[in-house]
Amino acid sequence: MRSEHPTTTVLQSREQGSAAGATAVAHPNIALIKYWGKRDERLILPCTTSLSMTLDVFPTTTEVRLDPAAEHDTAALNGEVATGETLRRISAFLSLVREVAGSDQRAVVDTRNTVPTGAGLASSASGFAALAVAAAAAYGLELDDRGLSRLARRGSGSASRSIFGGFAVWHAGPDGTATEADLGSYAEPVPAADLDPALVIAVVNAGPKPVSSREAMRRTVDTSPLYRPWADSSKDDLDEMRSALLRGDLEAVGEIAERNALGMHATMLAARPAVRYLSPATVTVLDSVLQLRKDGVLAYATMDAGPNVKVLCRRADAERVADVVRAAASGGQVLVAGPGDGARLLSEGA
Ligand code: DP6
Repeated sequence: MRSEHPTTTVLQSREQGSAAGATAVAHPNIALIKYWGKRDERLILPCTTSLSMTLDVFPTTTEVRLDPAAEHDTAALNGEVATGETLRRISAFLSLVREVAGSDQRAVVDTRNTVPTGAGLASSASGFAALAVAAAAAYGLELDDRGLSRLARRGSGSASRSIFGGFAVWHAGPDGTATEADLGSYAEPVPAADLDPALVIAVVNAGPKPVSSREAMRRTVDTSPLYRPWADSSKDDLDEMRSALLRGDLEAVGEIAERNALGMHATMLAARPAVRYLSPATVTVLDSVLQLRKDGVLAYATMDAGPNVKVLCRRADAERVADVVRAAASGGQVLVAGPGDGARLLSEGA
């Protein structure tokens, strides 16, 4: 049976039925042009197009095994049984896959994340990218990368970009019918010259977020007078970013990424009530990045829905940047990442 669900109009079910299980791996990505704000919550359609770099650290490995006898989906994260909102999101995602595959079989999901425990780094991108690839294979859906990206998007917007390695752009997609908009919103690789970049990741606070990014995004779109101006300027940032990547201008890539991220945080600060993820430790690290620039080192910062800072720099400067940032991060963990691979299937079958 084939569903007419918009996300998966291009997808097909295999005639032979589904594999009994599949395992996939995916890496997190860091946005250089941010995704912040949805125009459709159910379909996870963003207000703006975003662009990211997939990392070569912290892979998530996920196994999806179909269980004909089970009445409910079950999941384990790093060996711990998932409950509450986590299980609800995984199960809702599997229901979407089942709807397309015409299956009613429940699944057992086993996810292993290598992000240091409590590092406070987003794992939903690698998590839903790995789940999309494994679940599609387990339920016997044949999807191309674009289809996988659309599917991963339905789990978590940023996951659409982790299907691809290196730099990826996630198109906001056209306004229009749900089907048109849904089909037009996917990620794909971005052409880039050889940049040899690194991202130095400073974990300044591993504690839980004060507000979930989902809620913060919603509040920002609904109440922040700065949201529209940022979303409009983000389009120009995107065009400039694309051409900076093409000509291999890492300085421009960093400049644009930093201003886009600071602008995103400004939209949240102006939300009612305000959402403030940046902490004093964040600002200390930002000061050290400024000092690096004054000392002639290419270094630019970006921050997501949390206080941790990612510093874009040349690969050749990464250890020096890491040392400076480590001193500023006073005890926080600092590590160096490079561009990584897209999501892929590791094994399939019984
Ligand atoms: C600040 O992809 O986690 O990291 O679609 O609601 O699951 P949902 O949000 P999510 O948001 C990521 C926001 C961000 C910026 C970015 O990655 O582009």
